[in-house]
Amino acid sequence: MFPIKKDGTGNNWGKGQVEGRTLNGTKINWDTREIGISPVPKHRLWLLIEVFTIEWYNNVYIYEGDSTYMSGSNTLCNYPYPIYVSSKLYVGQIASTLLDYERLLSNPGIAPIHWKDSCIGSELSLHQLSPYIGKLKSCIASDLVDKYSKRGDLVIDPFSGSGTIALEAAIKGRRVFVADISPYSKVLSKAKLSAPSSLGRALDRADRVLEYAEKRKNPDLRIVPSWVRKFFNSKTLKEAIKFSLVCQELDENFLLACFLGILHHQRPGFLSYPSSHLVPYLRNKKFPCKNYPELYQYRSLRPRIMAKIKRAYRRFPADISSSSWEFRQSSIQHLSLPNSIDCIITSPPYMNTLNYGRDNRLRLWFLDPCGKRKVDNPVTQSQEVFQSAIVTMAKKIESALKSYKYCIIVVGETALQHKRILLSRIICRIFNDFAPSLRLISLIRDDIPDIRRARKDCRGTKAEHILVFRKI
Ligand SMILES: C[S@@+](CC[C@H](N)C(=O)[O-])C[C@H]1O[C@@H](n2cnc3c(N)ncnc32)[C@H](O)[C@@H]1O
Repeated sequence: MFPIKKDGTGNNWGKGQVEGRTLNGTKINWDTREIGISPVPKHRLWLLIEVFTIEWYNNVYIYEGDSTYMSGSNTLCNYPYPIYVSSKLYVGQIASTLLDYERLLSNPGIAPIHWKDSCIGSELSLHQLSPYIGKLKSCIASDLVDKYSKRGDLVIDPFSGSGTIALEAAIKGRRVFVADISPYSKVLSKAKLSAPSSLGRALDRADRVLEYAEKRKNPDLRIVPSWVRKFFNSKTLKEAIKFSLVCQELDENFLLACFLGILHHQRPGFLSYPSSHLVPYLRNKKFPCKNYPELYQYRSLRPRIMAKIKRAYRRFPADISSSSWEFRQSSIQHLSLPNSIDCIITSPPYMNTLNYGRDNRLRLWFLDPCGKRKVDNPVTQSQEVFQSAIVTMAKKIESALKSYKYCIIVVGETALQHKRILLSRIICRIFNDFAPSLRLISLIRDDIPDIRRARKDCRGTKAEHILVFRKI
């Protein structure tokens, strides 16, 4: 667990000697010139003493030095037990994230009470354009944006998903840079950031696009996979395919997101045969065609899309059109981050817990029928690749985040097949090694009530950890 090798190698550590045995309250002296380390910034100077007796991070006690980095002395005054100092003393630039993590984990911050409440009736209706597994609650995103950034700041989210953080940041006057590997995320994030400024404009645009799509030649349904055809009346499916193609040609992301939001459900305002809303499963056993023939009839797209647009404008942000934003469809591995970032707020894929490609398969088919871009990449499947993606992210953040600014990572407590591995610890270990200028200053544990979990059979994540790093 402890990152520093005993001989002091591997972490820019110098090694020195301390004589004999010392007790609590005893002053010890060191001189970094004698132990041969290069000067390090004062705030990064730590003194590490290997001790024989006390159980404290594998028998190692770490004391943060506050005197000059060339030489100094410190009194072991806060340590409650006698200390037996061995012959080894290391002084150097310690990345202390892991120590901070263990300390904060044993006494995590309490999530604000209102994070437990449903925000469905109070959040912007743009957040409800279309469902997304693993979506962050908008009130959490809102609080994090408020607390860790200010107007005009550049806020980034490299795992944008449904664009929750992007939208909250944009309406609060932040500049926004977001990215995600998924084409569904691209549509949703762009839709939220570029929605027409009024309901009237949105309905006008929809009317024109619908008219244009209606004039198109009908698609040949024989080339549509049977698993897709099973969800729709064939006349509805033809309208749906034409509309989604036209939206994509015209880059009409807002209309496309509204369309994806009404693609499948069991309610009359939706396009499919009765099925679930988040993940597409037909409910033809519960609603067999012979008992519910009306649910299997043609469903016209036009009135449903118009009604959906009206719902999207129920609680609409006052001023979003002036916000500056950019979305990149890219994996974290290939993403170039902008320089001089003021704030990072992100929730990476919960390793092995959610399956973005499978669970969004019907919506993704309309966006990418040939499945050219794989949404489920090894990052969401394997621990090693997940870790290497987080390493890439940590390195990028280390160089692009401005000093004294924040990086907030929201992560599920555990991964599905690794129940005993805390994802937040994996992330802190990686930040410890690859983003040493970021200090972990807070850890909040937020229990996820059943209602918010993507899977209700208790297999999914039960709590989230919110890690707050600050660059020093
Ligand atoms: C937990 S979700 C983000 C949810 C988002 N905060 C929201 O509120 O909707 C994680 C996202 O990571 C994306 N993702 C998975 N692997 C990725 C990769 N290698 N690079 C970039 N994005 C990836 C998924 O498509 C998914 O949208």
